[in-house]
Amino acid sequence: MSNNDTSNQNTGSGFSHEKIETNNFLMIVLILLVIAMGGIVEIVPLFFQKSTTEPIRGLQPYTPLQLAGRDIYLREGCYNCHSQMIRPFRAETLRYGHYSVAGEFVYDHPFQWGSKRTGPDLHRVGGKYSDDWQRIHLINPRDLVPESIMPAYPWLEKAPANADIASNMRALRRVGVPYSDAQIAGAAEEVKGKTEMDALIAYLQVLGIHLK
Ligand code: HEC
Repeated sequence: MSNNDTSNQNTGSGFSHEKIETNNFLMIVLILLVIAMGGIVEIVPLFFQKSTTEPIRGLQPYTPLQLAGRDIYLREGCYNCHSQMIRPFRAETLRYGHYSVAGEFVYDHPFQWGSKRTGPDLHRVGGKYSDDWQRIHLINPRDLVPESIMPAYPWLEKAPANADIASNMRALRRVGVPYSDAQIAGAAEEVKGKTEMDALIAYLQVLGIHLK
């Protein structure tokens, strides 16, 4: 590093730079330390900033039916082809609408941002189509989009929605989602008689609607 004489230069504190530059192990430890400090300085403030920790205005926790639908979204691996993260670029906002902001995801555990886009981003798909469109599309995408390569999910019509969604709500409450006792008590009643298809559509229809 130094263009001075490379013989052992004493810094006065008894610790010369040469010691670091000639000791792989010490060099690695110090590099990791520097990177860790940089990381902490960037990441830790995000846990305390309002814009990343507080829900945007109007955002509600998922209803029991929407929450049951979200589990189906995970189970069926929809995230393998669909992201839920609109980036702040013109090409993205023209196609999908307002870019995604952190405050929209505070009730998502875990969030479904993703980066794999075999299909379009779904963050603002809520309200874009009717429930009937979604139903027909999920039963067989080719009926509506002939060139689609999305798989069909016809079995969702036949399976009943998860009747024990209350336990998921209790778990979510533990990590900060503000469900009331009454909401949890009424959960089973809300999903009664509904299919997995109903639940998934309820979930899709609420995606990204609070910031349009
Ligand atoms: C193999 C990749 C793949 C998987 C898995 C997949 N999709 Fe898709 N999806 C696509 C493609 C490609 C399109 C665009 C063509 C079309 O509309 O069918 C699409 C379109 C969509 C659209 C319409 C979006 C719009 O803005 O027009 C919705 C809604 C959707 N998918 C929901 C789902 C859901 C829910 C699941 C999981 C049950 C899922 N997808 C699984 C590939 C996939």
